[in-house]
Amino acid sequence: MITGTPAVGKTSISRLLASKLDAVHANLTELAEQEKLTSGIDKVRKTLIADTDRVSKRVQEIMKSSQRDIIIDGHYAVDVTPAKDVHVVFVLRRDPDELKGLMENRGFKGRKLWENLAAEILDVCLWDAVSACGPDKVCEIDVSGKRVEEVVESMISVLEGRKKCEVGIVDWLGKLETEGRLHDFLKHF
Ligand SMILES: Nc1ncnc2c1ncn2[C@@H]1O[C@H](COP(=O)(O)OP(=O)(O)OP(=O)(O)O)[C@@H](O)[C@H]1O
Ligand SMILES: [Mg+2]
Repeated sequence: MITGTPAVGKTSISRLLASKLDAVHANLTELAEQEKLTSGIDKVRKTLIADTDRVSKRVQEIMKSSQRDIIIDGHYAVDVTPAKDVHVVFVLRRDPDELKGLMENRGFKGRKLWENLAAEILDVCLWDAVSACGPDKVCEIDVSGKRVEEVVESMISVLEGRKKCEVGIVDWLGKLETEGRLHDFLKHF
């Protein structure tokens, strides 16, 4: 499973990892859109709202029917996959300054931008992953300043047992607080 805040780089990384491992790449955003597994539109954030029950059923069907390993890519992946079926959850992390740039390139602004940046700063995806699957299956990867190829290599090292699976490797909250910039990110609420 590959999770992380929107725009962190999940899909780019999942694509390359899937091709290297000859695995199936299940992109939850595309799956929900293409198969209309949605329950409405979030007008404020200008996004479709995924119907997580239906996405979950579909993910389980895909897992049952496939002979190959499956890489589930999505920020709500842990909510739609039974923990017993999860081998490892990679939580991608990116420095908020860098992430802000990627989000802005994607057209995120206003509430959608600041909410998602706050989610990264407050470790929301990490917390969700640990709550759903337990700390032993969760592996955080700091992708800040790294190329997709580099990130994929370090994930393969973890999968092959050459590198330790770690959590608690970044502290954006502490960093921004020390720099006196936390308020700049969280003042929008
Ligand atoms: N390692 C990287 N270095 C630089 N840019 C990257 C890297 N990985 C992804 N990007 C760029 O960041 C943007 C977001 O990447 P991507 O679509 O993979 O993110 P995502 O986490 O799947 O987003 P979403 O949650 O919206 O699906 C893209 O423009 C992509 O080209
Ligand atoms: Mg994506």
